Amino acid sequence: MPDKDLTEITLRRPDDWHLHLRDGAMLKAVLPETTRHFERAIVMPNLVPPVVTAKEAAAYRARILAARPDGSTFTPLMMLYLTEDTDPNDVEYAHKNGIATAVKLYPAGATTNSASGVRDFDKVRPVLDRMAEIGMPLCVHGEVTDSEIDIFDREAVFIDRVLKPIRKKNPDLRVVMEHVTTEDAVDYVRDHRKNLAATITTHHLIINRNHILAGGIRPHYYCLPVAKREKHRVALVQAAISGDKRFFLGTDSAPHTDVNKLQECGCAGVFSATNTMSCLAEVFEAAGALGKLEAFTSLNGPAFYGMEPNEATITLRKGDAANYPAQIQSGDGPVTVFDPGFPLHWHVHTT
Ligand code: DOR
Ligand code: ZN
Repeated sequence: MPDKDLTEITLRRPDDWHLHLRDGAMLKAVLPETTRHFERAIVMPNLVPPVVTAKEAAAYRARILAARPDGSTFTPLMMLYLTEDTDPNDVEYAHKNGIATAVKLYPAGATTNSASGVRDFDKVRPVLDRMAEIGMPLCVHGEVTDSEIDIFDREAVFIDRVLKPIRKKNPDLRVVMEHVTTEDAVDYVRDHRKNLAATITTHHLIINRNHILAGGIRPHYYCLPVAKREKHRVALVQAAISGDKRFFLGTDSAPHTDVNKLQECGCAGVFSATNTMSCLAEVFEAAGALGKLEAFTSLNGPAFYGMEPNEATITLRKGDAANYPAQIQSGDGPVTVFDPGFPLHWHVHTT
């Protein structure tokens, strides 16, 4: 059936392979927005201070479990924040004991709370070697931080200067390029079959850099990596709808209060947990690829991480434009929900 005639589609319950939940009042406010539709999520460790050790990850996981809405079976999958002092034994311990699923590499200074990230990549080599040995994935924020590199080029330069050398020295390391934003990254992942995958966010499938800057500046569309030209957005959509197992959803839903977004130097992050599945259904429908949505949101991620897809399902039904809130309230203040710029006709029904 052509997609325009489809009004209902059932998928395995999705997972989010890149999510920011924060802590305290913000965690309490944003967690239900994810658990409503998602069964599992990889939870980013860029708290202040960051989640570096197995002990810290276990404690953070306990706080997330305690904040789950009543009846939720949501599973947080924890991530360790890689620093130049990370102990390979601690990483192995976290992995073997089911405390952490992956390790996150932030080049120092690349984004929100990344000051403790890596400056000298040789210093983390023993950790990377150990991870390759035990099959633990490394998730990378793929942007160089050098001030002389144009912000729109930082992902492509990262591939050449950092990712290629890391993968050359350590071909057995399993790597996820997080939130890819360029055709260059899509091509790189597609051309290198072994031990490499990429997450794509909801918002990067929808906005390009004009949405941020043309006709007025839109702080709620500002995130890192920043959205690029339209040709890159199109490449991301092609990758997402391809069914290729190496591409899967990582929303990078990253809540900041409006006060922190709307200021002279506003924070980077788009909060999309609330309406992500409806947004994605629109994107896939427009591309005539609703049949590939399940692979992107519910199958490819678990396959990469060696997990089973979820047993439960969700059903998306097309109807009148859905009424998602423009903001959610948190104890720290309101957080604006991602505005895709078009009506969302696909409603999510959970069983
Ligand atoms: O836009 C972003 N926000 N990109 C990141 O990498 C981090 C995130 C955050 O934590 O707010
Ligand atoms: Zn992120």
